[in-house]
Amino acid sequence: TPANIVNIVEVGPRDGLQNEKGVIPVSVKAALVSRLGRAGVKIIEAGSFVSPKWVPQMAGTGEVLAQAERFPNVRYPVLVPNQKGLDAVTTLLAENPVSPPLTDEIAIFTAATDAFARANLNTTTAESLERLALVTKAALDRGLRVRGYVSVVIACPYSGMVDYVRVREIAKALIDMGCYEVSLGDTVGMGTPTQISEMLEEVKKSVPVGKLAVRGHFHDTYGTAVANVLTALSHGVRTIDASVGGLGGCPYSPGATGNVATEDVLYALQDSPYHVAGTSAGTIDLEQMVDIGWWISEQLGRESTSRAGRAIRAR
Ligand code: HMG
Ligand code: MG
Repeated sequence: TPANIVNIVEVGPRDGLQNEKGVIPVSVKAALVSRLGRAGVKIIEAGSFVSPKWVPQMAGTGEVLAQAERFPNVRYPVLVPNQKGLDAVTTLLAENPVSPPLTDEIAIFTAATDAFARANLNTTTAESLERLALVTKAALDRGLRVRGYVSVVIACPYSGMVDYVRVREIAKALIDMGCYEVSLGDTVGMGTPTQISEMLEEVKKSVPVGKLAVRGHFHDTYGTAVANVLTALSHGVRTIDASVGGLGGCPYSPGATGNVATEDVLYALQDSPYHVAGTSAGTIDLEQMVDIGWWISEQLGRESTSRAGRAIRAR
């Protein structure tokens, strides 16, 4: 039934690559986006328009979008921290008048603690919400869809355990300002299924999970991310962020590993009541995702960290 359709937001090109120290050529990033589209991924977070002084690796996201092979019915959202980032997206779209447009969606982001907002955005949570409300309004006026992220929904690397009431209030603020969906980020990747459950119970008091407005974003530092995905699904969440090859981490969350590997989510949901939506043959091709996870990891000089990806490769 449609109620059991799960959407995956592939964040590998953004969350997966943003923390890499070595310069990754635009051609490699564009090839990653192209290959993900070919494997049937419907939503590919292609990069970000943030300050290159803060996150140098994401400079060139405009070129990545312009160079990647594009597929019908695939969306290519990008992260935007401020008005300057939104203006850069607008300029890119004006300079590349293609149909469908290179992107039709931005993702804004804030955090459940001031300490993390300070580290990631150089501001407090309250100030960031004020600024983001203006950015969201401008983006909606320009015909873009807007998603929101809340970081550190379980624990903060700087201020410890997080108050879920605060997570709920911030998620609601993002929805109220016009985000159609809020992604709840366990940035540190130490949440347990029990904690995710308690956090979602709290957030559900203000944000309608049933309207698919809540999305799970779980880093896998302590190995609980697949379990956390299943927990979120059991709460009615139907959109999950995942990163091919398990790539990634946030530059401002020291020691955190990548997101749950897309391959691991696809594997875990095989023969389940859930159907992962995709473009090719209606789903996302697990074998192709395994290959992509290995290919991009090798580009970065390492092995795929996806458990399913490793096991399938070893067959
Ligand atoms: P600031 O230093 O307070 O801002 O940073 P500023 O306005 O003073 O700008 C500093 C310089 O950056 C200036 O350049 C600006 O022009 C430039 P200068 O005049 O010195 O030459 N600049 C920009 N350039 C390009 N695009 C822009 C832009 N904005 C300013 N958009 C700022 C404030 C928000 C800019 C900064 O803190 C920033 O870029 N932060 C983003 C950090 C980031 O990308 N973090 C990773 C993504 S979030 C994440 O990973 C978590 C997530 O995965 C969920 C989870 O796991 O929890 C989403
Ligand atoms: Mg993240």
